[in-house]
Amino acid sequence: MEIAQLWDICLQFEYDRNILVASIAQWISNNRKTVILDAACGTGFPAIDLAKLGFQITCNDGSTSMLQEFCRNAKIAGVTLPPYCMPWKDLKTHFAGRFDILMCRGNSLIYSGAWEEARDVEYASIYESLDSFWNCLKQDGILYVDTTAKKNLISQFPERKTYAERILDGRCIKFSEVVYTDRAQRTHKWIAELTIDGTKYEFERNSLFLSHADLKFLLRKVGFRKVSSVEIPGEHYAVFLGYR
Ligand SMILES: C[S@@+](CC[C@H](N)C(=O)[O-])C[C@H]1O[C@@H](n2cnc3c(N)ncnc32)[C@H](O)[C@@H]1O
Repeated sequence: MEIAQLWDICLQFEYDRNILVASIAQWISNNRKTVILDAACGTGFPAIDLAKLGFQITCNDGSTSMLQEFCRNAKIAGVTLPPYCMPWKDLKTHFAGRFDILMCRGNSLIYSGAWEEARDVEYASIYESLDSFWNCLKQDGILYVDTTAKKNLISQFPERKTYAERILDGRCIKFSEVVYTDRAQRTHKWIAELTIDGTKYEFERNSLFLSHADLKFLLRKVGFRKVSSVEIPGEHYAVFLGYR
């Protein structure tokens, strides 16, 4: 099993797909913006759903295995949406000034460069990615980016979730996850455990502890204006907006 397959199953436990897709669609429509880039499209949630609703969305991700799963999901959904495979830092050379909205959601930013393979995230890569995102936007274009929710940043305890067993595609699936935070090192470690018909798979990924103040500081530093947080029903993470 690869991380992409695990993640695709994980999403089915973590999100109410309809609620999140509806609220992001509403947010996009309220902003009257049309040309969208999902820079961290992963396996296609919620980009494929948004494309199906008629939004003009371009998809990108740095992981070939996530994009394989993306293409499989797009085909099942009957959507033609060939994705780009680029690290965020390179997006600005291909898409300078092209988008009205750039989304980097699903708490992707804090895993910058450390998803396809487990490794430590460098703080500098967060700045470099945000700078690239800024360059991809048109004047007045909006970045939609998220980080860990405040309650999980301040909690002294690991964030544990064990979900009720489910039958998916005829298979019996158990899923649990835990996030450990090391404040001294400013890192998190996510450990996901998936059991499919009795066979157990475990994945581990490291990410950065990115406080809301730090994210806002970096956003302003690369040039974003009107940096603010926004409530999006169905999102688990803290969503921030910044305007080019
Ligand atoms: C936690 S997953 C979330 C995926 C998707 N947004 C979702 O909600 O299901 C993080 C995604 O960000 C991508 N990613 C992380 N760092 C990246 C980078 N530097 N450049 C491009 N993609 C990156 C990973 O490959 C992965 O698909």
